[in-house]
Amino acid sequence: MNRLIRIIQHSFFCFCLVSFTVLNSEAQTNETAINAKVNALVKQMSLEEKVGQMAQVSIESLGKIEGDNFVFDPAKLKDAVENYKIGSILNAPGIPLTAAQWNDVIDQIEKAANKTKMKIPVLYGLDDNHGCNYLLDATLFPQEIGQAATWNPSLIFNAGVITAYESRAASVPWTYSPVLDLGVNPQWPRIWEDYGEDPYLTSQMGVAFIKGVQNPLGSKDKLAVSIKHYMAYSDPKSGHDRSDAWIPENYLREYHLPPFAAAVKAGARTVMVNSALINGIPTHINKHLLTDILKNELHFTGFIVTDWQDIENVYRRDHITKNIKDATMLAINAGIDMSMIPYNYKEFCTDLISLVKEGKVPMSRINDAVTRILRVKEELNLFKTPMTYLKDYPKYASAEFHKASYNTAAESITLLKNENNVLPISKTATVLVTGPNANSMRTLNGGWTYTWQGDKTDFYAKQYNTILEAVTNKFGKENVKYEEGVAYNMKGNWSQDSVVDMDATVKAAADVDYILLCLGENSYTETPGNINDVNLSPNQIELAQAMIKTGKPVILILNEGRPRVINKIVPGVAGILDIYLPSNFGADALADILTGDVNPSGKLPITYARYPNDLVNYIHKPSEGGGNPQGGEYDPQWQFGYGLSYTTFDYSNLAINKKTFSPGETADISVTVKNTGSREGKEVVQLFVSDLVASLTPDVKRLRGFEKVDLKPGESKTVTFHLVMKDLAFVNSKNKKILEAGDFKIQINNLTSTFNVNKTETF
Ligand code: BGC
Repeated sequence: MNRLIRIIQHSFFCFCLVSFTVLNSEAQTNETAINAKVNALVKQMSLEEKVGQMAQVSIESLGKIEGDNFVFDPAKLKDAVENYKIGSILNAPGIPLTAAQWNDVIDQIEKAANKTKMKIPVLYGLDDNHGCNYLLDATLFPQEIGQAATWNPSLIFNAGVITAYESRAASVPWTYSPVLDLGVNPQWPRIWEDYGEDPYLTSQMGVAFIKGVQNPLGSKDKLAVSIKHYMAYSDPKSGHDRSDAWIPENYLREYHLPPFAAAVKAGARTVMVNSALINGIPTHINKHLLTDILKNELHFTGFIVTDWQDIENVYRRDHITKNIKDATMLAINAGIDMSMIPYNYKEFCTDLISLVKEGKVPMSRINDAVTRILRVKEELNLFKTPMTYLKDYPKYASAEFHKASYNTAAESITLLKNENNVLPISKTATVLVTGPNANSMRTLNGGWTYTWQGDKTDFYAKQYNTILEAVTNKFGKENVKYEEGVAYNMKGNWSQDSVVDMDATVKAAADVDYILLCLGENSYTETPGNINDVNLSPNQIELAQAMIKTGKPVILILNEGRPRVINKIVPGVAGILDIYLPSNFGADALADILTGDVNPSGKLPITYARYPNDLVNYIHKPSEGGGNPQGGEYDPQWQFGYGLSYTTFDYSNLAINKKTFSPGETADISVTVKNTGSREGKEVVQLFVSDLVASLTPDVKRLRGFEKVDLKPGESKTVTFHLVMKDLAFVNSKNKKILEAGDFKIQINNLTSTFNVNKTETF
């Protein structure tokens, strides 16, 4: 019997080995064929044709909006694609288009490309921040901060699959997502575009999304991703968009680089660069980051694209050069392969051609850039299939896809307070719905929704439910009252709010059982989202205080892109649900959670600050808290990873397979989780590890693993983590990864244990 098992095992092993070798050699043959084809093409190209491939323009420069459509100016399209041989076009024209309209737009572009000598397809790219947000009727998902709050990579993988499918239905093969910046600064206006503040969580979510979008690249329902914004864009000293970050290289490598490294390893084909500066150097001319680290050290074989107008910014904004031409020279020599110009392509092409002729940019650099760009086009199979059409995508915007968005929203919503189990509430209760976020599709979606600032969402997303509509559906019209209380209004690009009718709102609260207070932010992104005060607006605090004063139980619904400080109102409200930016099905998911049809299982992917002057992340040094008498007091409103449920979980049997490990080994850490309440619920088991003594002050703790489990009442599961010792190494002051011998502490929920690493090793 034993022999038989061994024979079967051996045959299976041989089968796996052969399959792996065959697959591997197929991949290599494919790669060799792609490289041969691309090299042959590059050899036939003139300098002008090569430089054209490196140029990317925005669609607005090639035509105009007529009614609800975009119309090319034939002369402009011809000039860009046929005369200047532009390699790429991006952006929506200022309005979202239907998939059929996109088919038509891209078809016209590819027809123009087909008239050129080389017939190289033009690569079209769009920002799919939360689904195909420039595509009318596409399936939109919660923004990345909400996606991360699910702590469920399989949902994010699925969002990637659907995004790619719907994008190809619209003929667009390239997406500027995922954002892999760390959401470490709550003042920063793009924190909601990130998967939270932790490098490990960001890497896991980013890789899941990339696999869903890209694999297998070349098939007609997949896209190339552009991971962005390489790197540390999210951590500016000022908290304002596109401003200088002061970060030493070892911290860049320790915190900001890992998600990009993981994404490159997972096969990300393009990278977009941080629009801002690090240590006074615009990232777009930072050869060390672009070439030494990204291309040479991480072996990134795709291409690097600039962010919006960022070569020009080196000259105009950053005062590094006296003209754009010199900025172009610095950026291309630093490793930029494609410039998102986005309007004046003639100047870029003319400058780059003369820079090559003057010997200021080597031809080898141009050849390298073009080879990288053409390789991605070939990997996408665009030479053979430049067009894909809506008719071949029957599942476009289907109920199945909508359900996937709903599920993601439902798993993202995070219960932060539930005094005396005020939630869930009975379906027959009467409620007052109030606040500026109560009746708005715009606030549910945030920026990058149908338009850049998401300011037309109430028009384009009419068919979906606002919180007021979803709550009315759930509780019945006769049980729901509505008073806006505070309303958003715009001052230029900047959103403000004002009190509407406080007396009427207080009066309306008199005869209801509960108040659903919907507060937060209006939509924004990039510079228009800059703030000078991280507190929630005074008008909204005033509304909250008036509602608390009524004595009715107040359920605070937070609908915001970044964690605005709310310490003044937290004690007075009975329940708090953070819904982040849950998108078009978010209000339906919220209504289901309010009544207990769904049990909340989201966990904060960020630290929620209690005070505006204490914006410390959970990753911090002992001197910033942790009982050190001479350090700061780490006292957030809610910790990273926090989130309640309608049921309770008990943790037991934390076990580790050994007590001492060498640097090459892996520890098996297991724990049992039991649902001790009366409802089914999902729990995120989080593994934190602390390096107790190190030559560079260690962080108090770091997330090193997580798993979301679904447990019925009374059910228990044992979760096992495989902790690779090498992954506990830190980047020392010489920028080397080192694992130092010594003691480590593990923590899962309220349980702790220790182990020892017996040898120091550098990697
Ligand atoms: C943003 C990028 C975006 C690009 C193209 C820039 O302003 O910073 O995130 O991909 O525009 O729309």
